[in-house]
Amino acid sequence: MRHPPSRAWYTDRSRFEIEMRELFGRAWLVVCHGSDVAEPGSYLTARIGGEEIALVRGRDDVLRCFHNVCQHRAHRLLEGRGVLKAVITCPYHAWAYGLDGTLRTAPNMTQVRDFDPAAFSVPRIRTAMFAGFVMLCHDDDTPEPDALFGDLESRLLADHPRLPEMKAVRVREAVLNANWKAVIENYLECYHCDTAHPSFGNFDMTTWKHVWGNGWSRQGRVPAAKADKATGQDDIEGLSAWWQWPAVFWARALGPESFVVARHEPLSANQTHQTRVVYSADGKETAELKDFNDLFDEVFAEDVSVVESVQRGLGSRGYRGGVLVEDPDRSAGWSEHAVGQFQAMVRDVHGANPA
Ligand code: FES
Ligand SMILES: [Fe+2]
Repeated sequence: MRHPPSRAWYTDRSRFEIEMRELFGRAWLVVCHGSDVAEPGSYLTARIGGEEIALVRGRDDVLRCFHNVCQHRAHRLLEGRGVLKAVITCPYHAWAYGLDGTLRTAPNMTQVRDFDPAAFSVPRIRTAMFAGFVMLCHDDDTPEPDALFGDLESRLLADHPRLPEMKAVRVREAVLNANWKAVIENYLECYHCDTAHPSFGNFDMTTWKHVWGNGWSRQGRVPAAKADKATGQDDIEGLSAWWQWPAVFWARALGPESFVVARHEPLSANQTHQTRVVYSADGKETAELKDFNDLFDEVFAEDVSVVESVQRGLGSRGYRGGVLVEDPDRSAGWSEHAVGQFQAMVRDVHGANPA
């Protein structure tokens, strides 16, 4: 029998700080889809892994990620998103950087002795493309995504061959009043699907299954004839959803031509920013996809209500800690074993002081 971690795991500021440094500071984190920065000169800004970042596609078509901070006296360099011409000009004293992050001009600096512009480039952040999405990692020693997640990328692409060319059709942003781990844990089990999701109607748990690998797990529906057999990824059909370490959900929407991603940025021990985007291959939200997206909005609202209630409960001295309801063979739709897998990974981050 496995037990979930203590209340402090979800409420202590010190744990939050450790996780931002040791976990989000080292993991691969999704920034956006490649189509969000497709045009030369295009850029977007975001807070990812606790750092303000700017993602810029140079006029040379190379995508670069920077800390969004001027090297003079630390003003923010870029806001929102848009298209740049030749330089990034700081709004404070007009230091101007090339789209490769090198300092080009700084007013009056010719008067300053020994000033070397080459020493004031904006620091870069490592990036990688993953199934058409841009990921970043704040740690240069973390292995490449391929080495961490096995065939997850090729599986996503096999199920959605046009994923790299998809375009966003619906974007939803929300601040959830819950610790990021409570949000992820809720997503990792369907034990709650029948009770907490009226929008699902009658949820057939017998054909809902889990599969998992290194740093990821997946839930989805299998044909009734396969319900009693061992489940592999190839058995899953239609709607299904992956979780990828640490805080990304990838979901198949209507079929191979649409896709949902939800990424999570912890803001504090009890607040999490969620960005959820639906993509489609032709960049259009058909009536059928709109109905699906409307339903997904309802499902997510139900999940927000649940995790915010859990977060309030975790603040109560009356919660003594529970137990994970796990199926021994781990594939049953109702099993909470994927929660246990996630909690084990976070416990590893906390090392000698797990929970
Ligand atoms: S802080 Fe950017 S130019 Fe001074
Ligand atoms: Fe849910």
